[in-house]
Amino acid sequence: MKRVENKVVIVTGGALGIGRETCLLLAKEGAKVAVTDLLAKEGQELVEEVNLSGGEAKFWHLDVSDEKEVEKVYAEVVKEFGKLNATVNNAGIAGVDKPTHDITEKEWDSVMNVNVKGVFFCTKHAIPHLQKSGNGSIVNLSSIYGLVGAGDLPPYHLQKVQLE
Ligand SMILES: NC(=O)c1ccc[n+]([C@@H]2O[C@H](COP(=O)([O-])OP(=O)(O)OC[C@H]3O[C@@H](n4cnc5c(N)ncnc54)[C@H](O)[C@@H]3O)[C@@H](O)[C@H]2O)c1
Repeated sequence: MKRVENKVVIVTGGALGIGRETCLLLAKEGAKVAVTDLLAKEGQELVEEVNLSGGEAKFWHLDVSDEKEVEKVYAEVVKEFGKLNATVNNAGIAGVDKPTHDITEKEWDSVMNVNVKGVFFCTKHAIPHLQKSGNGSIVNLSSIYGLVGAGDLPPYHLQKVQLE
């Protein structure tokens, strides 16, 4: 028995990096994986790789900072795969690497929109589907920068502290 046999999992920012590896491992362990990202080409390639190796995955374009798109995509995933068992709130950006006194409001907001509001939107719109499944998992990606301070990336530090 595989560890997540027949579980349906949405991974945000699933096309690259940690999200990509998460999708591959989930599929290998039997999950039906909704790969979601801004990057359609990379996401589709990953889906092909999963499906060719005997797993099950499908790609959706999803900008986690757009609540309407989050709501729509989470509903479409449930329509496609029949249920939702977990969301992996992986999508995140580092943002500008400047000292605090040089950061503009727009630069600050761009990190918060993805790393904070994105996690909120994906959690909010996952919960009703998880409740219908009877249980579920919400996985948020924090960082060492949520535990210790360093001299770079001020908005990223704040956001990862919030996820600790
Ligand atoms: N790489 C590290 O060393 C590290 C360490 C600690 C925590 N993390 C956290 O892990 C997560 C993934 O990091 P990574 O290094 O794999 O990043 P990455 O940059 O390699 O991949 C991030 C993915 O998120 C996608 N993305 C960006 N903005 C998005 C948006 N608005 N909506 C949907 N998708 C979006 C990107 O297209 C990309 O595919 C992040 O939350 C990051 O903060 C990473």
